[in-house]
Amino acid sequence: MSQTFALTDLLNSDAPAAAARFKGLPRYNFVGGHNDPDQIPTEAFAEAAAHALASEGKSLALYNLGQSPLGHAGLRAFVARKSAETRGIKATADDVLITIGSSQGLDLVNQLFVKPGDTVILEALSFHGEISRLRALGANVVAAPVDEAGLRIDALADILRDLKAQGIRPRFIYTIPTIQNPTGSVLPLDRRHALIDLARSYGVAIFEDECYAELTWNKEFPPALYALGPDVVIHIGSFSKTLAPALRLGYVIGPWELLGRLQALRKDASGALEQLIVAAYAEKNYASHVATLKAALKAKLETLVEALEREFGTAVEFQRPDGGIFLWVKLPDQVDVRSLVAPAAKAGIVFNPGPEWAVDPESAKSWLRLCFALPSHGEIEEGIAAFARVVAEETGLKLHSDNRAAVVA
Ligand SMILES: Cc1ncc(COP(=O)(O)O)c(C=O)c1O
Repeated sequence: MSQTFALTDLLNSDAPAAAARFKGLPRYNFVGGHNDPDQIPTEAFAEAAAHALASEGKSLALYNLGQSPLGHAGLRAFVARKSAETRGIKATADDVLITIGSSQGLDLVNQLFVKPGDTVILEALSFHGEISRLRALGANVVAAPVDEAGLRIDALADILRDLKAQGIRPRFIYTIPTIQNPTGSVLPLDRRHALIDLARSYGVAIFEDECYAELTWNKEFPPALYALGPDVVIHIGSFSKTLAPALRLGYVIGPWELLGRLQALRKDASGALEQLIVAAYAEKNYASHVATLKAALKAKLETLVEALEREFGTAVEFQRPDGGIFLWVKLPDQVDVRSLVAPAAKAGIVFNPGPEWAVDPESAKSWLRLCFALPSHGEIEEGIAAFARVVAEETGLKLHSDNRAAVVA
């Protein structure tokens, strides 16, 4: 006798609820880490693809292109070279593992270091994707306070001392030191050295996530933590923000004792075609592309800042970042941005609510993150004006443009 049942009856008890179905992109899209469509180098990609397929296409017949499972050798050599030039990192192609975006780097490093109940330290404001990953792994996530320059080393020292007194040795300190997500801060050199000293003295690893570091428009920015303390740092990066997020190309830089284990852990690799194309593209085009992209992003940030000042006046505060694709914005204390999500979405506006970017969600209830890379200048202006109308309606706040004193820096 056949039995009537639903496939969902058989799901394991930890199976997630179904995700919301994709219903198209909103009109004013300030969420996520999308890039600027006008800056995708489509012609140079096409040329690189033709060249790469003519010279190496037949190797697509083999898993890993018949090369090391670390990834395409030319791409790894390029990552090593650019990391030396832009981040002061001494590495060779053998110190680089190509990953499926830096997201896979996060998954692999988390999995290698963290078991349920282990303690990890995160910046109190941090990447939503890493906070949620670590929570899903059952980690005990401890928040280290940040200020306008990033991780507060004095507070971190207190945390490490207190944890040690309780017999707890954290696995790692996860940090985004250069163009922090969400705050946009850049950790100064003296704090970088102090952080490495602390990691060494407490025997704790530093997990450095640098996917925005090349998008800095101030030339004076410090080297990667990995460049200063490769003995205690594991470094991840990405081509998502400098080239295109849909490529799914990231990397981990570290010694073989770690890379070899990450390679053993991982179940799948980044697409070979992406690796071939970007390897062929990067040598000639990457540096000039990043320079053009940065100029375009900086101009969009200016448009966003002007629109916020015009539409919100003193009702918003923010620190203008020295690079990247986000602005971290504060509304008055009485506003809980979570109550704005639905009405804003109804008006076609989406943004990232601050609580999702905080280890303690309540601490960021009046904050939001705006990504300015994807919308056009016109969409930024219209979107912020529409958002101001929603905020005024929902909160009763009086928004004016004549007093601009609220800008912090
Ligand atoms: C800090 C940080 N790390 C990692 C990622 C993951 O990016 P991807 O997997 O596209 O490289 C993001 C994406 O926004 C991010 O902001």
